[in-house]
Amino acid sequence: MKEKIRIENLYKSFPGKQVLSGVDLSVYEGEVLCVIGRSGSGKSVILKHLIGILAPDSGLIHIDGIEFTGASELERHALLSKIGVLFQGGALFDSMNVFDNVAFGLRRRNAPEEDVARTVTETLSLVGLRGIDEHRPSEISGGMQKRVALARAVALKPEIMLYDEPTTGADPITAGAVDRLILKMRDSLGVTSVVVTHDMKSAWRIADRVAMLLDGRMAFIGTVEELGASDDPFIRQFIEGRADGPRVA
Ligand SMILES: Nc1ncnc2c1ncn2[C@@H]1O[C@H](COP(=O)(O)OP(=O)(O)OP(=O)(O)O)[C@@H](O)[C@H]1O
Ligand SMILES: [Mg+2]
Repeated sequence: MKEKIRIENLYKSFPGKQVLSGVDLSVYEGEVLCVIGRSGSGKSVILKHLIGILAPDSGLIHIDGIEFTGASELERHALLSKIGVLFQGGALFDSMNVFDNVAFGLRRRNAPEEDVARTVTETLSLVGLRGIDEHRPSEISGGMQKRVALARAVALKPEIMLYDEPTTGADPITAGAVDRLILKMRDSLGVTSVVVTHDMKSAWRIADRVAMLLDGRMAFIGTVEELGASDDPFIRQFIEGRADGPRVA
């Protein structure tokens, strides 16, 4: 299996705080890998390293076999163009309507306007949104905003998709639709996905493998079945969502 992403011995601290202390993780082509872990454990920080928003204190990040931090500007640009991101907050442009938000990246690639229109319409219907092209993000619900942000990322047909809490705050039906879309991207386009999530139900539905971040490192990497069978007290506390156990809130 081809390693699409490899993170090697990644360390990252912020003033007064060591966040990552030796993260190792491989993500294989065409798999859905879920990253779980407590709030503040550094899950979003890992994703930000994969798109160059944050630079490692030490450690290496390879995408398609190319080391990201040592890559030339041109190589970095080529690597980034393969990656789509759904940020935790969605991050739509408030001054643009839904259509223009989804069209943004396509227009930046100078796609002809008729292709832009077709792709935007197809992608919006893929995420179950129709007839809201002219609305501003502020005029639609939070769950719909998330789906527009998802459409914006998917419209660029990335080889790698990074999702930061795609189902958090979504109602169960929207969450189910987002999960189905993640699987559809894998099955029909062979997209490699990293999904940061608190939503264990969703992780159970979509993950080929799960990685659990604890104290700056991956405490567990394996299938959901292996996760479910683990007798590690912290892992059990986390997946069962209990307040009592080795860790206190
Ligand atoms: N740019 C930054 N400057 C300083 N500290 C930061 C920065 N980014 C993240 N941190 C700190 O790093 C830690 C990990 O943050 P991160 O956002 O990765 O957590 P998380 O696991 O994604 O949590 P959540 O599940 O709540 O989203 C936090 O303590 C956060 O305050
Ligand atoms: Mg986060």
